[in-house]
Amino acid sequence: MNSEKESHTTHDAEQDARNKDVKIYINGEIVHRDDAKVSVYDAGFMLGDGMWEGLRLYNGKWAFFEEHMDRFFNSCKTVSIDVGMTKDEMLDALNRTAAANGMTDDVHCRLMLTRGIKDKPFQHPSLSRSGPTLVLIMEHSKPVDSLSSKGIRLATVPQVRGLPMSQDAKLNSHSKLNCIIACLQAEEAGADEALMLDPHGFVNTTNACNFFIVRRGEVWTSTGDYCMNGVTRQKVIDLCRENGIPVFEKNYSLYEAYGADEAFLTGTFGAQTPVASIDGKPIGNGDRPMTRKLRQFYKDLIKRTTSDA
Ligand SMILES: Cc1ncc(COP(=O)(O)O)c(C=O)c1O
Repeated sequence: MNSEKESHTTHDAEQDARNKDVKIYINGEIVHRDDAKVSVYDAGFMLGDGMWEGLRLYNGKWAFFEEHMDRFFNSCKTVSIDVGMTKDEMLDALNRTAAANGMTDDVHCRLMLTRGIKDKPFQHPSLSRSGPTLVLIMEHSKPVDSLSSKGIRLATVPQVRGLPMSQDAKLNSHSKLNCIIACLQAEEAGADEALMLDPHGFVNTTNACNFFIVRRGEVWTSTGDYCMNGVTRQKVIDLCRENGIPVFEKNYSLYEAYGADEAFLTGTFGAQTPVASIDGKPIGNGDRPMTRKLRQFYKDLIKRTTSDA
């Protein structure tokens, strides 16, 4: 590891003592985190057989709830997990849990649904017979300031993104082993997180966020194949279009990434996080006018879409 610089993850949040006592939703019950327990027979624990979403609460409202639910329900349908509730019922569960925690702002939720408890400790999905397990973990969560000031150090890694017929990257699956291996490789290379290529060698995404570069006033990201169909990714593309900023979803290589004026990551947790370096090469001159502008547009969008709650 590079010991001169403090290391980061893209999900570093300010310490908040209140998180030691958060209440967690499990299948309709809301309990203290110390009592929030799932069976060792649960398909999520045993096999990573489940889907999840990361959501943020602003001004008492879940940002881009519809978009998150569209992706979540589509993912569950793809792997034949019956969510067992409607989107409105899910919203009610989220709101009840937030209320039980007295939370309205700067909150991150990990919503997780697994295929449920299995009769036997084996893979076959039909062994989960008693319905899905739904868990909502909410924490007080403000990304640390240094993430947006210093930026993140990426390393390209041997682990690549998969083809959709092996494990479609659009499935926000509990099983993140492909991403975890990439992240371990990046750490071993002395970076914070991994920049992953697609099977053809084009720059695709990071292990936990979508990836953008800025070149001569243009914003580029991958075609969208092989990566998570990120809600924040789409919002950034839409904001560019609305504000007359040229934006392209295209194939490009490390050549263009290393030579970019700016690079940033997108995700629900950190919104837009600047990239300081890739493979030890600094990106741009550290001035990040486009990233700053897009961060502001995104902040305004959140305000516009959550302020009437
Ligand atoms: C691999 C990966 N890429 C990107 C994202 C960002 O997606 P979103 O903007 O919807 O949070 C996530 C978050 O779930 C992710 O796991």
